[in-house]
Amino acid sequence: MKATAIAPSNIAFIKYWGRKNQSLRLPENGSISMNLSNLQTTTTVEFNTSFIADEVIFNGQKETDAENRITDHIKRVRHMANIQMKAKIKTENNFPTGTGLSSSASGFAALTVAAVAASGLKLSEKELSILARLGSGSACRSIPDGFVEWVDGDTSETSFASSLYNPDYWDIVDVIAIVSNQKKDTPSSMGHALASSSPFFETRKHHMQEKVTLCKTFLAEKDFTKFGELLEAEALELHAIYLTSLPSLIYLLPGSLQVMHMVKKWRQDGIPVYFTLNTGQDIHLICPREYQKKVVDLVETVESVQKTIVNEPAIGTRLISTHLF
Ligand code: PMV
Repeated sequence: MKATAIAPSNIAFIKYWGRKNQSLRLPENGSISMNLSNLQTTTTVEFNTSFIADEVIFNGQKETDAENRITDHIKRVRHMANIQMKAKIKTENNFPTGTGLSSSASGFAALTVAAVAASGLKLSEKELSILARLGSGSACRSIPDGFVEWVDGDTSETSFASSLYNPDYWDIVDVIAIVSNQKKDTPSSMGHALASSSPFFETRKHHMQEKVTLCKTFLAEKDFTKFGELLEAEALELHAIYLTSLPSLIYLLPGSLQVMHMVKKWRQDGIPVYFTLNTGQDIHLICPREYQKKVVDLVETVESVQKTIVNEPAIGTRLISTHLF
């Protein structure tokens, strides 16, 4: 019983930060994202009676910890499918891991879909999204296609993501500016637990529903300026929470700030481009597709930028027939 899935990472326009239930990964608020065409995880899972222990090969390296987040997720699937067989899991990212490009979103989405298929279970998109969420919150948004909403929900069964629009709904792109390959020192799973220590978190909680509604309105109207202003303000608010948590979380590097300043300048020069960031130093620059080349050319002139990765809105996680082993 072997299956392979490919999953996109996603960029949140309205972010998930902080949880009302840590173990179930129930977010404090709903969030809105877009799947990314060029940040992908491919994962093969095989369950076999001849395996004596779970084995994980992550980006070519064998995991040495017998218990880790991947094997914990495999246990969930084994439990749901009511099987005992051990698993071999091989997973590969086509982009840097642990630098804030949301590799856990694509990683747990691919793992969920591959493991469920390999176990013989048949789950709906909603059930796959719920299961992916238990592995990593943002992974639930990588299951459906295109532009996605994760409704926070009060229980595990009501906290899942679904598609708002297909990928071809809006011709916008995400030009990622890589400013460093440095790994972040605080993973987002630890950061979520610190969110409520920020004195500003209560304020954030109070207006999140309004932000989700506004984002959906600007998406529906395809109002790029209002949409861009909202997503940039949201990214800065998220970083205000990081900076004022106890202990503080400083994900920005000098190169990140350099790009952020330049984006404001490019806008003054008439280029419609807005930035967003997650738990890391790299910057996502959102612009209409017709400005993609201009934005890439401009970003590549910034001294601190090592590389750019251009992403279109993408479909969600799917099974493929080519296995990694
Ligand atoms: O799913 P996690 O635990 O990796 O958290 C994701 C947190 C952010 O990327 C900062 C925001 C988001 O909604 O993707």
